[in-house]
Amino acid sequence: MIYTEILGTGSYVPKRVYTNDDLKAFVDTNDEWIYSRTGIKERHMSEGESTLDLAYQAALKAIETSHIDTQDIDLIIVATVSSDYAFPAVANLLQAKLEIEGITAFDINAACSGFIYALQIADKMIKSGAFHNALIIGAETLTRLTDWRDRNTCVLFGDGAGAMVISRSEENKIIDIITGSQGDVDMLLYCKNPDLKDPAVNKISPQDHIHMKGAEVFKFATRIMPKTVHTLMERNQITDDDLNCYIAHQANMRILDKSARDLNISMDKMYSNISHYGNTSAASVPIAIDEAVRSNFLKRGDKFITVAFGGGLTWGGALITF
Ligand code: ACO
Repeated sequence: MIYTEILGTGSYVPKRVYTNDDLKAFVDTNDEWIYSRTGIKERHMSEGESTLDLAYQAALKAIETSHIDTQDIDLIIVATVSSDYAFPAVANLLQAKLEIEGITAFDINAACSGFIYALQIADKMIKSGAFHNALIIGAETLTRLTDWRDRNTCVLFGDGAGAMVISRSEENKIIDIITGSQGDVDMLLYCKNPDLKDPAVNKISPQDHIHMKGAEVFKFATRIMPKTVHTLMERNQITDDDLNCYIAHQANMRILDKSARDLNISMDKMYSNISHYGNTSAASVPIAIDEAVRSNFLKRGDKFITVAFGGGLTWGGALITF
């Protein structure tokens, strides 16, 4: 039986910080509104750094903390909705930047749940016996997809990347992973690709922005996050007492609060860094896990649940011993 474990984690955010007050330059908003509705104080925005650049920096840190030879990585999966190119994938360019030849590398899109999806795919690919060491990454330059005239959405997002190396293990440490989706036919959360082309005209169409029905997404998030945590607890026959902490997708502090209340768990066990980063989509979970590790909130041997929801609509959760 092949088991898996987390060897190491890393994260990286661009240097440039925009506070809530800084956003007043673009839209009619204020710190009080943003902070009280979301828990966000500031976010990092790329200044010329691509999604690949962010992914690369996070990857270097994860490789360093994993104490693994880069050449021993045989699988790279990048979760992103903001890749630099339609193709090649960020994962392929990252492979080249890390100077690893001939391995399997690809991107996936499951929006903000993307990292949990990547974790599930990598975990199963290793457990199949076909792979040994996977570098999985959530990396986004979401601010490139942000409509800077729309105060309903532009205050929410930020850029960043988080990475993790998972490997074969003697012990069963990545215990269980759930993912799921329901087609967002009501278009609660979307960002359209450029329009279809009439070959006779062949006009270059602009990239669309993020659109969101915030209140509906809030309802979905506060329903699906507790449900996912509950399912993981039930099918693994554990309770809150067996868990050291929870690391959820950082979309909105009020979503974390409500989910914790519904699950009857203490907010002290719920990691949060949303005030500094806003919502970094697929990067949010791995950045939060890395920071939880670095701040000793998550320690070796701790058991935790990580959970996310996002566009698609998608969701995912994992029960892990770190
Ligand atoms: N500054 C000031 N006022 C604002 C702003 C702003 N940035 N944004 C909206 N408002 C105004 C609205 O125009 C509205 O004014 P009106 O009543 O005069 O029309 C008022 O504030 C209330 O707006 P609501 O949308 O009702 O505010 P709500 O309390 O629902 O909060 C929010 C909005 C924060 C977006 C909330 O609905 C939410 O968090 N939803 C979930 C968002 C989320 O998690 N998305 C997932 C992200 S995407 C992903 O993860 C891929």
